[in-house]
Amino acid sequence: MRKLEELKTGKAKRLYNTDDATVLWVEYLDQATALNGKRKEKIASKGALNNQIDCLLFNYLIQNGIATDFIRQVSATEQLIHPVKMIPLEVVVRNLASGSFQRKFATTYLQPLSRPIVELFYKSDALDDPFINDDQVEVLGLASAAELAAIKQLALKINQLLQSRFAQANLTLVDFKIEVGYLAGQLVLADEISPDSCRLVDQTTQASLDKDVFRKQTGDLTTVYQEVLTRLQNSEVAH
Ligand code: C5P
Repeated sequence: MRKLEELKTGKAKRLYNTDDATVLWVEYLDQATALNGKRKEKIASKGALNNQIDCLLFNYLIQNGIATDFIRQVSATEQLIHPVKMIPLEVVVRNLASGSFQRKFATTYLQPLSRPIVELFYKSDALDDPFINDDQVEVLGLASAAELAAIKQLALKINQLLQSRFAQANLTLVDFKIEVGYLAGQLVLADEISPDSCRLVDQTTQASLDKDVFRKQTGDLTTVYQEVLTRLQNSEVAH
């Protein structure tokens, strides 16, 4: 497998073609952004930490029956994936109130929700990823009602699996974002799952161990991402 020309550079990853048309090469970058890319910083080791966390979590989800675009890790900062026809939605699952939910409804921080909820956002940097409801998804032709039901079911199944995996590492999964698409006609989990896209708090102290420390400038991103990776690795034997 050879890495060929660069296809695109996103906020935290760079994508390359390979000599196999069914394989893309992803490089995780030492870069963190907030405010939809308006604040950008170079952070040493971030690419390696997120790639390793993402590979560990995707391998775990695959072992538990989730279809994904993931093939394998190739280096500390790189992995191989299959090209996917992406659905332009950000699918957010919440277990506890935080972030935009807490701001919007003036709830208490980490207030438990009576059941996990799914929220959809239209993936568009130009529009700042606006909230989108089911009817809007359908009339814009992003997904049919049946596809949307399948997307939500997949997101909630992933939530159950991630909640139990993070609990093994003494972490509470507050909320997370996934992206999905089609691979050979099958709905699959794509993109990334890492502390960039999840909110995690320590089960005992409720300290944030995710990108909120960068967003709110309350701690060192590398230290908390390393803590997440180490805890996941140390609890891996239990699976
Ligand atoms: O900001 P908000 O509370 O809506 O975020 C919900 C979850 O989705 C958080 O875990 C956050 O990290 C993730 N998210 C993301 N990318 C975005 C927006 C939110 O990964 N563009």
